[in-house]
Amino acid sequence: MQIQLETQPYSSLASGALVTYIFDKDSKFEGVAGEIDRAMNGRLSSLAAAGEITGKALELVLIHFPQGLAAERLVLVGAGKPGKFSISDLRKIAGTALRFLKSRGVKKFAFLAREGERGAEAARAVAEGLVLADFESDKYRTEKKNREIGSVSLAGFDGGLGANLQEAIDHGRIIAESQNFARDLINEPSNHLTPRMLAAKAEEMAAEVGLGVEILDERRIADLKMGALIGVAQGSVEPPRMIILRYVPATTPAGGPVLGLIGKAVTFDTGGISIKPANNMEKMKYDMGGGGTMLGAMRALAYLKPRIPVIAVIPSTENMPGGRAQKPGDVQTAMSGKTIEVINTDAEGRLILADGITYAKQLGCTHLIDAATLTGAIEVALSNVHVGAFGTPREFLDEFLASTKSAGEKMWPMPIDDEYEEMIKSNIADIRNTGSGKGGGAITAAWFLKEFAEDTPWVHLDIAATCWVDEGRPWLAKGPTGVAIASIIAFALRM
Ligand code: BES
Ligand code: MN
Ligand code: ZN
Repeated sequence: MQIQLETQPYSSLASGALVTYIFDKDSKFEGVAGEIDRAMNGRLSSLAAAGEITGKALELVLIHFPQGLAAERLVLVGAGKPGKFSISDLRKIAGTALRFLKSRGVKKFAFLAREGERGAEAARAVAEGLVLADFESDKYRTEKKNREIGSVSLAGFDGGLGANLQEAIDHGRIIAESQNFARDLINEPSNHLTPRMLAAKAEEMAAEVGLGVEILDERRIADLKMGALIGVAQGSVEPPRMIILRYVPATTPAGGPVLGLIGKAVTFDTGGISIKPANNMEKMKYDMGGGGTMLGAMRALAYLKPRIPVIAVIPSTENMPGGRAQKPGDVQTAMSGKTIEVINTDAEGRLILADGITYAKQLGCTHLIDAATLTGAIEVALSNVHVGAFGTPREFLDEFLASTKSAGEKMWPMPIDDEYEEMIKSNIADIRNTGSGKGGGAITAAWFLKEFAEDTPWVHLDIAATCWVDEGRPWLAKGPTGVAIASIIAFALRM
């Protein structure tokens, strides 16, 4: 899909549709909307008077062969109350329009900016929304729908002197394409994405965008004594991999911060010997969502070039039952030297992340962010609306949360008080891998990770309930969402 800036007057743009948006207020048709209404002899005003155009959020109005416009259709997307409007609404409006027109077989349309949002930030959000909405998961269908949006022109944008609209569009495109890259990975069934295949895809991507890459195989993993990762992996015939990606800026001040991105990549989670019920088990192919997230973020950072070095550390394995699988009650020694009593083999994500976090610190990371489809409990706490965000020190978490706002993603700070630490004390080892059964499952999981992050500034994102949606949204297909990638990118660029 091409996205280009258009300088011709919008009324003379001959394409499948002209898209713009309308606010939910008394005087709906002002500025360009008023112009269009007048060109149509007040037809929009009469539709509004009849209650067919209200401007409520994401309402869609389609008018064929609109008078005074060269476009074949006029699409008005509701923008809600003007007081509540933000740039992330613009992203959703653009995405909603794209999916609406794509389902009607339109190949080419124009998006018309409104008076309040004509600058670079708006152009970037529109580009992001369009590319995200264009994502399709029909790779394994033999009959493709064959509906493609060939090009979208952005009309009426004007960044003023010096503003580089094209650069903003490119920036938005890179972020959204990197999210789509991750979404493609997260969609892959586990027979098409084993740890080895994930590593190969990471290598291929790294070569394409110019990142350093190193894959640790099962022998190197054993040499490095990553006992927590090995414990999970030993139940599978597929060997584990530790995937390392590096971004190095042109000039790196010695002693400066190094950001570590650790992602859980369990390519399939059966639960192991503590096996999961059959219902919905197929969804556990997306248990590599945290790893996919970090690969997507690294892809974007390779293009957007933050000032600090960034290292991604992605432990990848299957979690399978089998004759060699670890058993409840087994004690494993993590890379850090801490011993772990494995109470439940289905709490495997925290085990592999433990060694990922230790290794990231050993590679010199001074600040850590991990992302993981870690607990069902986070869905109980926050449903599929907010990502659960944990971290210490609190100031570091707050800095990260500020970036999530600019990225338009919903994340909520979760507590990590000392009282929860008691719940992961073991009778025979240093710690146990599940809580004491008194609730707080997402928090005790986070505390487990903190035992390995220790005093290094650290943020943990539990994306178990947000990395995948079962129902599509007007601006987003069902399936993998790509959540957290935009926030991580925004944070790395600010650091
Ligand atoms: N991968 C799961 C968490 C998960 C659940 C992700 C639902 C996506 C959707 C994780 O490995 C797991 O099994 N967690 C257990 C932990 C429990 C055994 C302490 C859980 O949340 O039930
Ligand atoms: Mn599990
Ligand atoms: Zn899991």
